[in-house]
Amino acid sequence: MPERKLRVRDTATDETYELGVKHSAIRALDIRPIKKDPDEFGMLSYDPGYTNTASCTSRITYIDGDKGILRYRGYPIEQLAENCSYTEVCYLLLYGELPTSSELTAWNREIVDHTMVHENMKKFLDGFRYDAHPMGMLISSVAAMSTYYPDSKNVQSRTNRRLQQLRLIGKVPTLAAYAYRHSRGLPFPQPDNEFSYSENFMNMLWRMTEARYQPNPTLARALDVLFILHADHEQNCSTSTMRTVGSSEADPYVSLSAACGALYGPLHGGANEAVLTMLDEIGTLDKIPRFIKEVKEGERRLMGFGHRVYKNYDPRAKIISEIAEQVFEVTGRNPKIELAKELERIALEDDYFVKRRLYPNVDFYSGIIYEAMGFKPEMFTVLFAIGRTVGWLAHWDELMEDPERRIARPRQLYLGPEEREFVPILERLGRMKHERS
Ligand code: CMC
Repeated sequence: MPERKLRVRDTATDETYELGVKHSAIRALDIRPIKKDPDEFGMLSYDPGYTNTASCTSRITYIDGDKGILRYRGYPIEQLAENCSYTEVCYLLLYGELPTSSELTAWNREIVDHTMVHENMKKFLDGFRYDAHPMGMLISSVAAMSTYYPDSKNVQSRTNRRLQQLRLIGKVPTLAAYAYRHSRGLPFPQPDNEFSYSENFMNMLWRMTEARYQPNPTLARALDVLFILHADHEQNCSTSTMRTVGSSEADPYVSLSAACGALYGPLHGGANEAVLTMLDEIGTLDKIPRFIKEVKEGERRLMGFGHRVYKNYDPRAKIISEIAEQVFEVTGRNPKIELAKELERIALEDDYFVKRRLYPNVDFYSGIIYEAMGFKPEMFTVLFAIGRTVGWLAHWDELMEDPERRIARPRQLYLGPEEREFVPILERLGRMKHERS
């Protein structure tokens, strides 16, 4: 039942239409009957970049961009980052409730049962050039897993979807670590299931010849919190991609690979790598004013700033700047933090950024922490993808259960030529010249 009605009068026909409003939205199809003459297709809404279009209903993540609020299943991100492990948050995102301690133990056990990848996958990864970007390797290897798990095509089955979710949450860090090891020319170690999720990831990244790798607990906790902060962010570019590809009933490996591809772009998850490139380019504090001038003149963007939804400080950026200090106590201070803090100070006082409500986002400080931990910038977006895997899967599952699910298929406003007659190839040059003159 609609909560209220919206009355719309078409000035061309003087007709009045009543549109039902539910959850503060009208249904786009309800405006289709609005026509100037009966042969017309009907009214469409035009929204490039979906700035004001809800593509689904969801019960997973809530954001209030004006107030800087982020909640997973109702729980404030600050409380989850303070108190939970990443796998606990995975359970919450997928099943809607926090696990009891026995549920969490069983859940962790189920994930570690799926951390190994097929031996052939190592050969597949070995086929990449030594300098292949690890995001390209992750995107390809996740898609390749579709060929290992043809059972995943049974997307209608809830039990089957659950198995694929476990496989992906378990294996994405393994593939990510192997992409990193490949770039360093190092052998691919087996996962060690006695470790926690983040410790095991560190073990696969950094284990050398020692009998047993000893993960630093502060760094392991920092990684876990970073994964929590990246775990979901409602209908962002990559999650919408997961839903779009998933809506065709493609299997979750190819859908998730497409989501990784969307994440890779510098305006989305690739921004963390772009921030580091930007800081390297600026180099010293005295170069900041010139850089800011170029941004204000529209020559470039301040990467790690601005957000489609947040028009306030991104709550994740706040938590990340606190974690940075804990990490630096172990790794030593990354000098780029001073550069980033000064950029932030200047930007937050500058009219250009204030007027447009541009604040630091999740990517502004994360790269500085990752670099202090020893990651090269090419790995930053891969780390984002590990955390976000569960968010993509939660949305995919919600989509598959949605009684209103239909294949994603937007409309367009066609502005090209009207029908015209075919011109044989030998007549084209003269005729085209004639038409253009
Ligand atoms: N530096 C300079 N100006 C900016 C920036 C920026 N980072 N972001 C937005 N603007 C300006 C933009 O030029 C425009 O100005 P005007 O109205 O004069 O044309 C205005 O602010 C609105 O920008 P927009 O591009 O229309 O905003 P959007 O909602 O379409 O884009 C964004 C959002 C995140 C793509 C954009 O802010 C951006 O490019 N930021 C830098 C890249 C970045 O940090 N991305 C990570 C996003 S957070 C992690 C994630 O979830 O992916």
